[in-house]
Amino acid sequence: MTLRLFRAELLSVSADPRDDPGAIRHEPDGLLAVEDGLVVARGSHATLAPRFAGLPVERLPGLVVPGFVDAHVHYPQMDRIASHGEQLLDWLERHIFPAEMAFADPSHAAAVAEAFLAELLRHGTTSALVFPTVHPGSVDALFDAALDRRMRILSGKVLMDLGPDGLRDTAETARSDSEALIRRWRGRGRLGYAVTPRFVLTSSDEQMRQAAALLDANPDVLLHTHLAENRHECAAVAERFPQAHDYLDVYDRFGLVGPRSVFAHGIHLTDRSCARLAEAGAGIAICPTSNLFLGSGFFDFGQADAHRLRLGLGTDIGAGTSFSMLHTGGVAYQAALAREVRLDPFRALHLATAGSASLLGIADRVGALLPGQEADFVVLDDAATPLLARRTAGADLAARLFAMQVLGDDRTVARTYVMGDCAWDRGTK
Ligand code: GUN
Ligand code: ZN
Repeated sequence: MTLRLFRAELLSVSADPRDDPGAIRHEPDGLLAVEDGLVVARGSHATLAPRFAGLPVERLPGLVVPGFVDAHVHYPQMDRIASHGEQLLDWLERHIFPAEMAFADPSHAAAVAEAFLAELLRHGTTSALVFPTVHPGSVDALFDAALDRRMRILSGKVLMDLGPDGLRDTAETARSDSEALIRRWRGRGRLGYAVTPRFVLTSSDEQMRQAAALLDANPDVLLHTHLAENRHECAAVAERFPQAHDYLDVYDRFGLVGPRSVFAHGIHLTDRSCARLAEAGAGIAICPTSNLFLGSGFFDFGQADAHRLRLGLGTDIGAGTSFSMLHTGGVAYQAALAREVRLDPFRALHLATAGSASLLGIADRVGALLPGQEADFVVLDDAATPLLARRTAGADLAARLFAMQVLGDDRTVARTYVMGDCAWDRGTK
């Protein structure tokens, strides 16, 4: 048994603060006790210190928040970030599909998976729901690397039997390869599986039926896909399924809308589909930097909140433009404001941590740094750059947090801890 004590300013937001202001927990001078990778106590230093009298205490140099949870990201696309010139469908054809073909080579997949997880950690992200490629080996590479780093990573082979040459499976191999991967990886480390049809346009009807069968047969797996991101995409879906009420209804008709379903984007949603998402308990991973980069639009927080949708936050690398969940929260603020909604910085932190964790079904394990949870956390430096230091000097907590969301990036992450162990240290400035 190893017990470690950390003294620092602590902050977490375990629930949407509009529903429960008490969900914001802040200890200006806090103590976090970690035993065998789990939080065993958390509170003010003054209150907790006597319980651990005589034991060594490590001081952490900054504001400690829960490890970030990226609710939607593509690891094979990290080297295609900042690819110029196209909206979604042309961007996929021109930049993304060629890059994903290279993942047929397991050694390429392994090298990118290592680089990807390193990038997550340097940005403070300790859990993520990740798109790999159509190749089963791309899942093995990611899970192998995540197991080594003890990270909480969820992923699953991409299903796409209507994909381009060189990047296609079949309805049958989609099913059998997914089943084999679920068997191989179930219960290992902190990994989780997600049935991952790419989007409506790349799966046949039969493949979507197979995806639903996988979900039915495996109650511990998620459904992870894209929904209503781009107007041209939505038009193509409507053309293929003229009988469907809307984009979501296509997934629904195949049995893919339920409490374990995570849909990325949801930019162009009908009120009907919002009501249906709420009724089914399905959620949306909002990806604001991606939505700006591909000219997809602005997520409608007002509409989503009117229906009380379950929401999380994702970077959507490589359409997204930053691995930083802090920065993604700052861009979410700007996207919300474009639609007349003021996103509170504590709510943005909730979306980037416990909100995304809840969407991914892992909120009992991570996201709020509460006793019993896994000790994944980030040490944020609110003076990481001269400008941040000027902006945060003397500011209150909300203003400091907001400044880090607007101005922050990997420089703002001093350290990242996974299960109580330091997994990334920016070093001294
Ligand atoms: N829709 C289908 N595939 C993709 C993808 O790779 N990225 C994004 N942003 N949207 C998609
Ligand atoms: Zn995506």
